[in-house]
Amino acid sequence: MTNKFDLLAHTWDKKSTRVDIAQTFVKTIKEKIPNIKDFDLLDYGCGTGLVSFGFVDDVKSITGMDFSDGMLEVYNQKINEYSLENIKCEKHNINDNHLPQNSFDIIATSMTLHHIKDTNDFISKSNIALKDKGYLAISDLDKEDGTFHGENLEGVEHFGFDKTKLSTILKQNGFEIVFYENVYIAKESYPIFCAIAQKN
Ligand SMILES: C[S@@+](CC[C@H](N)C(=O)[O-])C[C@H]1O[C@@H](n2cnc3c(N)ncnc32)[C@H](O)[C@@H]1O
Repeated sequence: MTNKFDLLAHTWDKKSTRVDIAQTFVKTIKEKIPNIKDFDLLDYGCGTGLVSFGFVDDVKSITGMDFSDGMLEVYNQKINEYSLENIKCEKHNINDNHLPQNSFDIIATSMTLHHIKDTNDFISKSNIALKDKGYLAISDLDKEDGTFHGENLEGVEHFGFDKTKLSTILKQNGFEIVFYENVYIAKESYPIFCAIAQKN
């Protein structure tokens, strides 16, 4: 079944806010996490790869996962266009499936967590998928009043995240918070946070 992300995929990168949020996230990760060159990175809810492709020269391997065929099609077009070898993507729905165990040094997820109903389940699955001392990096909306998406609330499960509540979920799932700050303001009034947590 076609979802809203399939329909948006081919024009996704044209909105500068999306590009800016992804670039800010990539920059923050590179500033806060040292020595990533041997890292296997998972970009969860990768979309067209705005985050993934920011790491192609910096890490060992990149895997994008997303449940939208349209997004994965655009992602694959970029891999082919630039003949890249350390990056791939696969179809995956976190609501129905586990992640491969002990497989990644970092899981990065940008603007996807608010589309996933069970936050605790995503964070728990991420912990299992990370190697020892691996990092979970989340970029998403700070708590908002529900107006960020306008009228189209299809697939929106959370109106952003409260810092204290999300930090508690991370800690309860065996993470230590390394960094958690608002790093960008979207549409002039919606703060976007970046949280980086390390597996204990
Ligand atoms: C707002 S977009 C962000 C895409 C990309 N990370 C970016 O920053 O441009 C959210 C993405 O999460 C994906 N997504 C939403 N729910 C998902 C789920 N349950 N499992 C896998 N992917 C999901 C959507 O298909 C979409 O590509």
